[in-house]
Amino acid sequence: MIIHDARFLTSNSRADLCPEPTMPEYAFIGRSNVGKSSLINMLTGRNGLAKTSASPGKTQLINHFVINDNWFLVDLPGYGYAKVSKTSRAEWARMINYYLMHRANLMCVCVLIDSRHPPLAADLEFMEKLGEEGVPFVMVFTKADKQSTAQTKALLANYLKKMSEIWDELPRYFLTSAETGLGRDEVLNFIGEVNQQ
Ligand code: GTP
Ligand code: MG
Repeated sequence: MIIHDARFLTSNSRADLCPEPTMPEYAFIGRSNVGKSSLINMLTGRNGLAKTSASPGKTQLINHFVINDNWFLVDLPGYGYAKVSKTSRAEWARMINYYLMHRANLMCVCVLIDSRHPPLAADLEFMEKLGEEGVPFVMVFTKADKQSTAQTKALLANYLKKMSEIWDELPRYFLTSAETGLGRDEVLNFIGEVNQQ
């Protein structure tokens, strides 16, 4: 897919205030600092479109972007950020759960996972919840440039092994780097395919 237009539309604290669900939508979610906003910039080829930060907790709202005037890309706040108060975390969970359960045009959730880390309970539980609720998702491993190809391969194999203990059928997955552009075509072509369905 060629991106000829990508623009920021709105930020919302409530799912029911999000734009009219007139186009297919893809949401990016994952632990704080995993690289959601960076991946959005890499995919769209627009640096600075989504705000990134070296310190976790940068994205706090439901951010809608319009791509090629025919699909929405959504940047969500990260989960698992230790410095966030219990109350804020509960609010976050309520906002995101409502969004995930009620967004009529949500085609697929991209669950971002840091390729450097072993399987973490927060991510595994989040994906299990999506499965239970019947929300379609794929896994997007990020920051592949942070270690050698051999290390990435081993980490990925370990992750998939853990997933196969939980899931009868492995969810689809992608390996990406916002630094090198790895995985860009694969993710965009996947979205293009789903848009056609
Ligand atoms: P929150 O909005 O706080 O939840 O974070 P986020 O998931 O949107 O992460 P963000 O894109 O802001 O990136 C966090 C940090 O990781 C930044 O310092 C990025 O430059 C860095 N980063 C993100 N993706 C990559 C990547 O693929 N490779 C490398 N080397 N660094 C990355
Ligand atoms: Mg962010």
